[in-house]
Amino acid sequence: MKAIAVYPGKPDSIHLADLPKPGLDEVPDGRGVLVRMLRCGVDGTDKEINAAEYGKAPEGFPFLVIGHENFGRVEAIGLSVTEFRPGDHVVATVRRPGSSIYDRIGTYDMTTDDVYFERGINLRHGFLTEYYVDDPEYIVMVPDGIKHVGVLVEPLSVPEKGVLQAYEIQRRLRVWRPRRAAVLGAGTIGLLATLILRLRGLDVTTFGRTPRPYLNSDLVEALGGRYVSTTEMPLREAATARGPFDIIYEATGFSPLVFEAMEVLGKNGVLVLASVTGGNRRVEVPADKINLDFVLGNKVMVGTVNGNREYFEAAVRDLAMAETQFPGWAARLLTHPIRGLDNFRQMIEILTSARGAIKVFVEISDGG
Ligand code: BGC
Ligand code: ZN
Repeated sequence: MKAIAVYPGKPDSIHLADLPKPGLDEVPDGRGVLVRMLRCGVDGTDKEINAAEYGKAPEGFPFLVIGHENFGRVEAIGLSVTEFRPGDHVVATVRRPGSSIYDRIGTYDMTTDDVYFERGINLRHGFLTEYYVDDPEYIVMVPDGIKHVGVLVEPLSVPEKGVLQAYEIQRRLRVWRPRRAAVLGAGTIGLLATLILRLRGLDVTTFGRTPRPYLNSDLVEALGGRYVSTTEMPLREAATARGPFDIIYEATGFSPLVFEAMEVLGKNGVLVLASVTGGNRRVEVPADKINLDFVLGNKVMVGTVNGNREYFEAAVRDLAMAETQFPGWAARLLTHPIRGLDNFRQMIEILTSARGAIKVFVEISDGG
């Protein structure tokens, strides 16, 4: 079967690889689930892996099959699988457990191991291929009512974890009634974070660079959020009008903004960091002031990486809720379909240069 792969460490090595179709017996004890891939989204991570900024091939392979934003349909199940039936629509989680205590209790996203395993990213093949086999532990059901946006479950699980962790942490306050939220970044993750916070009834201000109106600012406003362009109004200034913020979700990919976010975070507030920044950027910051306000204001800052099945399940629930509260909103994110794995060049070109792309995804099979 076909797969889109790269040679990790070699820039722009994206190519079509050939792999044997996986069998149910790859998972022991009759627990295999064979899934036919229908759609697979791509994002900055795939772009950076192709640019050889990170990513590692599984042991015994010169290449890594990329793609982690998967969506497929169960084709066959092992004898002792009770969780799924052929025909079910499903999404697989990305992380796979290592050996720390967190890995052993199903919270492999919280691993303390130095080596981590992520399908399509690090040491495990991904989903830009025709079939995969996995254990039910790592597969989440997608109800038919949201299958048209099922490819958004993985990206949505990223801010789900960030927000759920923030609420978990804030239990320290006995009473926490967050009212004002800021989302930094209006890309796919920023938009999905805006959705999650609006579904929870928060007053959300989402910051992007591009001046409004454009699709992303329209999407923020369609949720009842406010879009602010930082080229027109810097974060500090906007915070005076719209803040102080009880929760800030940072998803710009630009690390210096983190320190500005620390400054505009309200008392008892929580700042969630979700940008994967591979560079070596350095900045000068008002360290005493930031520190003092954190101490006197009991503020928290937390990093978050995706995500065990709990957060995928939360993403499924919120997508279903979004379809009733904001019908058709999620589908507007699916801006750039690519037809078939053969068009991997077009996929990477659009990912690298298309203006206005929110979600680029490959239509692998219509399932017919
Ligand atoms: C993926 C996550 C992953 C993270 C870090 C993101 O693009 O969506 O699943 O944990 O990259 O590798
Ligand atoms: Zn991703």
